[in-house]
Amino acid sequence: MIRFLLLLLILLPIRPVTGDESPECLSCHQEKTPILVASWKQGRHGQAKVHCSDCHGPVHNGKMAQRSRSNGVCLPCHEKESKSYRLSKHGVITTLEADRMDLSLPLKEGNLRAPTCAYCHLHDNHHAGTPSTDRQTPCRDCHSPRLVTTWFASGTENVKTGEMKLREAQSIVEKIRASHPESIPQALDLLKEMEENHLKNIMLGVGHQSPDDLWWHGQPALDGALLRIKSLWGPSSPNQ
Ligand code: HEC
Ligand code: HEC
Ligand code: HEC
Ligand code: HEC
Ligand code: HEC
Repeated sequence: MIRFLLLLLILLPIRPVTGDESPECLSCHQEKTPILVASWKQGRHGQAKVHCSDCHGPVHNGKMAQRSRSNGVCLPCHEKESKSYRLSKHGVITTLEADRMDLSLPLKEGNLRAPTCAYCHLHDNHHAGTPSTDRQTPCRDCHSPRLVTTWFASGTENVKTGEMKLREAQSIVEKIRASHPESIPQALDLLKEMEENHLKNIMLGVGHQSPDDLWWHGQPALDGALLRIKSLWGPSSPNQ
């Protein structure tokens, strides 16, 4: 019983808190930090009812911002999208240097060697979320403008190539619908995989500078699914 209570004591402060905390935070912060609250409301976190205390914790102890700067806050809710980051150089460096990072200062002033999740996604306290305004801005704190522009230009091409493969698959699925209706469920499953996993991996591979996601779980995975869709249409069908 005592052990259970101790466990509860340990777990309580770090459990992501959802529920009625935001109205409490909002009652003051609507006035104290109106721009910040407005951008939270407008962003996907506000829309999805991810509360202030989910990132900041429930206790106003002067360390609420510090707590939210750590990757550990984002990981429980974003396990899937985090893999690409964790395998990237940025992710590896932040993991290796976690003990040495000083998160007591605003992220931009903390002299971090590599970016944490919030460094890019809540850059400059931008609570609406991501690089929606400009995904390149945070990168320029550390890299030359040339590296950043080149990286995203080739990233955009990469995403376009992925989208082309998806469109090709969609048009073949329409042909399968006419010629082999019995294969449609399988074809639609493959199409869904392409759209929701493989293409998303390419986007994450670009955003998180993760060659694994870009080149392994992205393009080749799309190629594989496209081939399987083609074979459902029929090996004997003319290959155009
Ligand atoms: C009674 C009013 C009040 C309430 C309620 C309140 N805050 Fe604050 N909070 C303040 C004031 C005042 C400051 C200092 C603001 C400043 O000077 O910029 C502050 C500062 C902060 C900071 C920056 C300093 C730090 O601790 O790192 C964060 C983050 C924060 N509040 C989050 C929250 C969250 C999350 C909640 C709800 C769980 C909340 N606040 C509830 C009044 C309040
Ligand atoms: C309590 C769970 C939770 C926590 C904690 C959380 N998120 Fe989210 N996040 C969500 C949900 C839910 C969405 C909305 C998903 C959707 O719209 O499909 C979201 C959306 C996002 C998006 C996509 C939308 C956008 O703003 O571009 C990003 C990026 C993101 N979160 C990053 C983060 C980062 C960085 C952290 C840590 C500082 C974090 N999240 C903490 C649940 C969470
Ligand atoms: C997805 C996680 C997340 C959510 C949700 C979130 N914040 Fe934050 N907040 C952060 C991070 C990360 C920082 C630190 C950014 C930095 O250091 O650059 C921060 C910083 C702040 C600060 C300090 C600003 C300053 O000038 O130093 C305040 C105040 C604050 N948040 C209030 C809130 C309030 C109020 C809400 C709800 C309306 C909220 N936050 C929702 C992650 C979040
Ligand atoms: C806080 C500093 C910081 C920020 C912000 C940052 N990076 Fe980096 N980046 C680094 C460091 C440090 C390395 C590793 C350099 C090395 O190899 O020694 C790195 C490596 C890279 C690499 C090489 C990856 C590889 O596998 O070789 C690319 C590409 C890159 N960053 C792009 C970006 C992009 C794009 C952004 C913005 C979305 C960004 N970086 C934001 C510090 C940063
Ligand atoms: C170097 C900057 C950087 C870092 C660090 C970073 N991200 Fe991202 N993230 C991006 C970019 C850029 C995108 C792609 C946005 C786009 O293309 O719309 C992205 C995409 C995402 C998405 C998908 C957004 C969507 O629209 O579906 C989520 C969720 C996300 N990141 C969460 C995280 C989490 C959690 C971490 C830490 C484990 C993290 N990111 C670290 C820059 C970063």
